[in-house]
Amino acid sequence: MSYVASRLSAVKPSASMAASMAAKALRATGVDVIDLGLGEPDFPTPAHVIEATYKAALAGETLYTAAAGTPALRKAVAEKFARENDLTYGPEDIVVANGAKQVIFNALMATLDAGDEAILPAPYFVSYPEMVKLLGGVPVIVECPANTGFRLTPQALEATITPRTKWLFLNMPGNPSGAVYSEADLKALGAVLAKHPNVLVLSDEIYEHIIFDNRKFVSFGKACPDLKDRTLIVNGVAKAYAMTGWRVGYAAGPAPLVKAMNTVQSQSCTSVAAPMQAAALAALTGPQDCVGEFRAAFERRRDLVVAGISKIEGLTLPPPEGAFYAYIGCAALIGRRTPKGTVLADDVAVADYLLAEGHVSSVPGTAYGLSPFFRISTATSDAILTEAIARIGRAVAALQPAEAAA
Ligand SMILES: Cc1ncc(COP(=O)(O)O)c(C=O)c1O
Repeated sequence: MSYVASRLSAVKPSASMAASMAAKALRATGVDVIDLGLGEPDFPTPAHVIEATYKAALAGETLYTAAAGTPALRKAVAEKFARENDLTYGPEDIVVANGAKQVIFNALMATLDAGDEAILPAPYFVSYPEMVKLLGGVPVIVECPANTGFRLTPQALEATITPRTKWLFLNMPGNPSGAVYSEADLKALGAVLAKHPNVLVLSDEIYEHIIFDNRKFVSFGKACPDLKDRTLIVNGVAKAYAMTGWRVGYAAGPAPLVKAMNTVQSQSCTSVAAPMQAAALAALTGPQDCVGEFRAAFERRRDLVVAGISKIEGLTLPPPEGAFYAYIGCAALIGRRTPKGTVLADDVAVADYLLAEGHVSSVPGTAYGLSPFFRISTATSDAILTEAIARIGRAVAALQPAEAAA
């Protein structure tokens, strides 16, 4: 007897969760493992957010709310889009869900018919293709190599759109590459999309505040206002306010799409938990100092990691422009032999080797649709990052050259 529906057959569990589980399993055997697999801010949630949540619960904010979110939170989200992104939305254009991930899931559930295509520039966030497949769609992967700055070009977009294209996914700053699109980049993509009126755009901007080198973040919505009626801007409190476990994401989009997403939400989870919505409200409307402090810490760590990795022969790392990951190129390691005699065939083998011999957990690039790379999270202390880089350096130095392996 099979318990599992056929739609699950092609869906993989999260690769970053899998890497983290492998790290935990090795740690359980007594090995001192540094886990750089999962990506979540290592800072505590700001105290004022926790206090506001407690007060809200005591004051009776413990009941079901509207599926789309409380009026107060939707108003605060609309104000956030006006204040930070220069975008005009009303509370009726806003939807709140259990994390940006559920926002995306609801959007796909509400829109995808069997065989509809979603264009995913690679490297992509691991959950995008799996959600598309789960909901009957077809992920169409466009590789965006390092020499394009890991960004989708207008030419590649044009070449990939078909009559079945339903969605284009954009994510900036990108997980795992950190790539940021400039306003000109976005306008150039918008010019292509203008010729294809049936394509919707999902712009995942959850890392917008984690952006480096004084770059200015420009929302897709701001760059391409003419596409407003087919753009869904996705965001959330997880990364900006160190609130990954609170599970609140939100989006702004055209009213018919938002309405359809709310129907999905109301028939699945009803709403985000009322106290968590109070928490998100406090995060969005309270003091914003933490956002800048986190950003500065992530930039310092980015610098530390780029400096360390660039000294390791065989690895490449163009400085990430945002987010808190390093997507490290390891093409030169493929074919090298480990001290135990295994030839590193691909980036999965590289990540396995770094865990087994270097005791550093990372996620192979194959999980993100662009190889050979491995991703480490930089959302940990400077001391741990320094030690991890030293371990990676020693493990790489212990490899025998590819020629000797032949
Ligand atoms: C690009 C991207 N989008 C969405 C999410 C998930 O956000 P949330 O925790 O709000 O569901 C992540 C988390 O890693 C992410 O990297």
